[in-house]
Amino acid sequence: MSSFGDRYVLASGRSGHDRLRMLCEIHDPRTREWLLRAGLGRGHRYVEFGCGLGYVSRWAATQAAHVTAIDLSDEHLGEARRMADGAGLANIEFLNRSIYEHGLAAGSCDYSYSRWLLVHLNRPVDAMRKIGEALKPGGIMVCEEVDASEVYTEPPSDGYHAYRDLAMEAGRKRGVNYAGGRLLHTWAREAGFEVLDVAAYQLHYLTGQHKNFWSWTFLETGPTLIQEGSLTEGRLRELGESMRAADEDPRDLRQPAGRVGQCPPG
Ligand SMILES: C[S@@+](CC[C@H](N)C(=O)[O-])C[C@H]1O[C@@H](n2cnc3c(N)ncnc32)[C@H](O)[C@@H]1O
Repeated sequence: MSSFGDRYVLASGRSGHDRLRMLCEIHDPRTREWLLRAGLGRGHRYVEFGCGLGYVSRWAATQAAHVTAIDLSDEHLGEARRMADGAGLANIEFLNRSIYEHGLAAGSCDYSYSRWLLVHLNRPVDAMRKIGEALKPGGIMVCEEVDASEVYTEPPSDGYHAYRDLAMEAGRKRGVNYAGGRLLHTWAREAGFEVLDVAAYQLHYLTGQHKNFWSWTFLETGPTLIQEGSLTEGRLRELGESMRAADEDPRDLRQPAGRVGQCPPG
């Protein structure tokens, strides 16, 4: 049995949900655009791995014939299911499974989607192979992953830059790569996919609530970083204050976002 994540370090609960909601507010518009550009439509069976609160899956259920939304978190799935019921969506099912052991029938899906999941996994290429097994011949995998090594502010904020380096180092210790966004096409090729398209974007904020996505993420992962010995309470406070100061200062904060690969199995 695979462990959670392999060891997913972000919180669930109220704050975790609110943070995931912000992730969706920031990225869903481009995600929808990309899925449509990849050809998602009425007759298709769509599966999402690591669906979180299910925002993309619920939208996909309005575009495709059938949606399977998979996640390992009961809490996330409960919330996602509640919102799908509220929207009266009858063509969506939620499964509590790991991507490594999804149990979907081989060749049963036309489209797969995952966002900000593979960077949390120790074996992203194996995970992609598992996606490939669920896809029909010629089926399309769409993935969006973050490249956290590109978080920066200009003028430089000590807090943001120290956090970026700390996060990358913590990833190395955990055996995951939070810069996985830049590796998607290489992972996909290794997993036996033909890569059809790659794109990337980086959002910039001077003001507004989305500007604090990374400081929020940092404060959420703080207790794990302390537990792992990467951070002290005092340093967490110090970096958090420096990041919050940059959030409130109307300077340029650059936030790396997504890369997308549309890949039918080769
Ligand atoms: C950063 S969240 C992203 C959620 C969603 N894709 C989004 O963009 O809003 C990662 C999600 O992957 C789920 N997850 C982590 N490890 C998983 C695994 N091995 N299999 C399936 N889901 C997993 C987590 O529970 C969490 O909901």
